[in-house]
Amino acid sequence: MLIRDATDADLPEILAIYNDVIATTTAIYDERASTLEERRAWYEDRRRHGLPVLVADSGRDVVGFSSFGEWRSRWGYRFTVEHSVHVRADRRRQGLGRALIEALFPRASALGMHVMIAHIDSEATASCRLHERLGFEPVGTFRQVAHKFDRWLDLVAMQRTI
Ligand SMILES: CC(C)(COP(=O)(O)OP(=O)(O)OC[C@H]1O[C@@H](n2cnc3c(N)ncnc32)[C@H](O)[C@@H]1OP(=O)(O)O)[C@@H](O)C(=O)NCCC(=O)NCCS
Repeated sequence: MLIRDATDADLPEILAIYNDVIATTTAIYDERASTLEERRAWYEDRRRHGLPVLVADSGRDVVGFSSFGEWRSRWGYRFTVEHSVHVRADRRRQGLGRALIEALFPRASALGMHVMIAHIDSEATASCRLHERLGFEPVGTFRQVAHKFDRWLDLVAMQRTI
């Protein structure tokens, strides 16, 4: 499995993974499917700012992706980033989520970043566990800050120093 920088040609597969996560999980607090134009705008914004968008490439398909961007926009937060990772449903539990996050660490380091933050829905136990295994520590839970699938959702914040 190759972890590499995404290209424009990967966007339809990134979109498909993203929309499946929206439709089937609480990992993304959105109910509406995204569009190719929105994913392209996101991708181009990350590229313009020199931020990574990585994909796991099986040789045939893109089966997962990861990225990070600014956590908060105010100047003092400039050494902290928030990342995301999503793996296609049929390729989970094969080490890809771990590989996609681990590949972000040297990128964050090269950009002089100090802290990486994950905001994880408390029901996303796979993601909480994965982040724990990678040295992220939980630093707090925001209670009932989101609403999806007819219920209130709690958001767990986890962080790791680079
Ligand atoms: C969370 C997610 C990215 C994990 O990716 P993955 O490729 O399945 O994870 P990995 O195979 O790399 O697993 C690494 C470790 O995470 C933990 N883990 C992963 N899936 C798990 C699960 N279903 N239950 C419990 N622990 C799990 C395990 O500790 C695992 O190590 P192990 O297999 O040696 O025990 C993937 O499940 C996913 O995309 N889920 C839907 C979207 C999502 O939640 N994204 C994260 C938003 S913050």
